[in-house]
Amino acid sequence: MILDKGHWNEYLDKTVNNHRKIYGVDMVELAKEYGTPLYVLFEDIIKENYKKYENALEKEYPHHLICYAVKANTTFSVPKLLAKLGSGADVASEFELQFALDAGIPPEKIRANGNCKSEYYLEECIKKEIIINVDSEEELEVINSIAKKLGTCAKINLRLAGFPLGHITSTAITTSGEWSKFGIDIKRANSVFNKVLELDGLIPNGLMVHLGSQITDIGAYYTVLDTLINLSKEAKKIGFEMNEINLGGGLGIKYFEANDWNTIKIKIKNTNKENYTWANEFIGYEYNQESNDLKWIGEELFCPYTPDTFIRELFNKKYSANITFKKKLQEIGSPKFVIEPGRSIVGNAGVTITQIGRVLTTPLKENLIHVDAGVNFHTFGTAVPEQLHRIEIANNIEEVNPFETFVAGNLCFTGDLLCKIKNKLLRKPEKGDYLLFYDTGAYSDFFASNANLFPRPAKVMIAKDGTHKLIVKREDMFEEFHRELDWRSDLERLKYH
Ligand SMILES: Cc1ncc(COP(=O)(O)O)c(C=O)c1O
Repeated sequence: MILDKGHWNEYLDKTVNNHRKIYGVDMVELAKEYGTPLYVLFEDIIKENYKKYENALEKEYPHHLICYAVKANTTFSVPKLLAKLGSGADVASEFELQFALDAGIPPEKIRANGNCKSEYYLEECIKKEIIINVDSEEELEVINSIAKKLGTCAKINLRLAGFPLGHITSTAITTSGEWSKFGIDIKRANSVFNKVLELDGLIPNGLMVHLGSQITDIGAYYTVLDTLINLSKEAKKIGFEMNEINLGGGLGIKYFEANDWNTIKIKIKNTNKENYTWANEFIGYEYNQESNDLKWIGEELFCPYTPDTFIRELFNKKYSANITFKKKLQEIGSPKFVIEPGRSIVGNAGVTITQIGRVLTTPLKENLIHVDAGVNFHTFGTAVPEQLHRIEIANNIEEVNPFETFVAGNLCFTGDLLCKIKNKLLRKPEKGDYLLFYDTGAYSDFFASNANLFPRPAKVMIAKDGTHKLIVKREDMFEEFHRELDWRSDLERLKYH
């Protein structure tokens, strides 16, 4: 069985010499022009995803704001593109803040997150009247004193966490549960409302929860939104202004179609029989004593929602007391509904092209191909081992002879695997072939480093008409070392530069 390419099908084509074309662009020629590894972004898919949110929200709940989570893809061209469509930004550091502002996003459309914000970051937010999502009770005091020092007040949302939600996604990217480093404990919410009112340097604005990332179960959003609405009623009684309900980001994307993903999960469970995962690890599973079986606790790589269907279902869901969320929000005075999506805007808008350097079999006769990119250039693979992307050889795409393989990177440790779970190709690859990874638009270079001193890859943006432009250049040898003052002075002495 060959994996279904999902939403990509409508953009895919091939050249006469059997190269993969996406949006009319030959991926092999692109790789040759810019070198590999190469990140490729598709402008139109990003715009479409944003518009799906915007159009659905406009219809269901006009008083809203979409804040693109800059962390999902920090390429400057992305917030710049989204700013033109009216997007706001969720930022997580003073550096992301600067990007968002320079990209043209106005301060009133920015929400400042972070669990360990620097004083400089807080000061900048306060001076620019940017709403801060406060992560802890201690932070309230810090913000209050900075605001007073600046002779002004800070507008704040309270970011809540500590919900007993269980495994809603991989533990590493769950940000609202009882084991999260983020947010104010939901059980303390009422006393924190009082504390905010006591601090005269703070202006209360609303409540915020960010569930986590790659959330595919809308039920978790229902639980949290209902809690926030109920808490808002409590807060308003004591004079806490409730202008905003911010439901964070987190909506997942479809890395695989439902059938393919279910098959993969079953094979992981049976890995002892099939060597389906690297070193037969039960990636994503936990032993459940009650059922004496393995239970999936990892990321779900099939998501049944797109931004528009998610918004429609959310607002029209009749939840507690058989009332829709749309109605419930109206009942508390129609606060601004803010969301901070990242992955669901950029995740399915990118591919990564790598080149194959070796094809071999392990001592256990498992196929293993080596590519010229490490895990540092490829998603959260190190934090979320079950993260898997569809792959395809970009040249000679017609030859059909299905081939199952693991994929290794080029870094100096064994865990450097871009596919720790076996993945499917249409044929046996050869050295020099180009390997495409699909749906790599979000968090691909989040951990990008110069591990083994490899330069970080270039990024190319492709427009609807098939034109492409370099938006981030590949680091070169000198840039990679430019912070090495000792090396630089040697170079100058030796007159290499
Ligand atoms: C506070 C906050 N908002 C929004 C997001 C975006 O999440 P996602 O990319 O899953 O939509 C994140 C991601 O971690 C976050 O920390």
